[in-house]
Amino acid sequence: MAQIIDGKALAAEIRANIKTEAAALPRKPGLAVILAGEDPASQLYVKNKVKDCAECGFFSRRIDLPVDVSEEELLGILNKLNADSRIDGVLVQLPLPEHMEEKRIIEAISPEKDVDAFHPLNVGRMVRGDSPVWPCTPAGIMEMLKAYRIAVDGKICVMVGRSNIVGKPMGLRLLRDHGTVVYCHRHTPDLAVLTRQADILVVAAGCKGLIHGSMVKEGAVVIDVAMNRDPETGKFSGDVVFDEVEPKVSYITPVPGGVGPMTRAMLMKNTLTLAKLHMGLACEH
Ligand code: GUN
Repeated sequence: MAQIIDGKALAAEIRANIKTEAAALPRKPGLAVILAGEDPASQLYVKNKVKDCAECGFFSRRIDLPVDVSEEELLGILNKLNADSRIDGVLVQLPLPEHMEEKRIIEAISPEKDVDAFHPLNVGRMVRGDSPVWPCTPAGIMEMLKAYRIAVDGKICVMVGRSNIVGKPMGLRLLRDHGTVVYCHRHTPDLAVLTRQADILVVAAGCKGLIHGSMVKEGAVVIDVAMNRDPETGKFSGDVVFDEVEPKVSYITPVPGGVGPMTRAMLMKNTLTLAKLHMGLACEH
């Protein structure tokens, strides 16, 4: 029987602490969120981000752009936000419309306002281990491990997935904290051989039912990042077959209610961190 990691409760606690910390600052932390197009999932994510800002007492700006907005127009908006002293964090909701070059847009965000930590300068800082902010999902997973007193030092950590948003930075962060990290992905020849070695298994493949009970070690910690939406029922499920895996492991995150709420909370925490840095207040890395 595993302990279920309650991301929803932990995220609420973290938001309450952020609100208290923000209220003591000389000015409100500010976040700008840009959405190009009308993708329904992205619209919901952006709406929630703005709502979280209000709950934490932050200043926020939501900028909605038509799906056919030009790259030049978006770059102009980013330049203005980079120079706006009320704004500490700038987030461009991904994916962008197809005609845009994602790399060019991400690189136009000031590295010091890059609340997602997607800018190559911050990726370099992550490789070095000293980025002030980390992408929200890996940051949220680290907060969960910390809250449940799960040590990374000396553990075998297996990361299934290698995206720039989750897998790659997650592995870097576990490595920084002295885990022994193995990356797995769709070209990995025998996934189960590696997942069975994991003391900490993080799964972000977006492949419902990928991880069965036979693929995990007794007593492992299992973190399921995926949010796979059933097109018929609209219900979300993870990559881990929860009913098979839960009886074998020591800790497991549910879907929904695990990693998702923590990702949201970390966007607020990253905004607060950048605001403190902009105000000349010290932050631990
Ligand atoms: N789309 C899906 N996840 C993310 C994220 O963490 N940041 C941004 N900017 N877009 C996303």
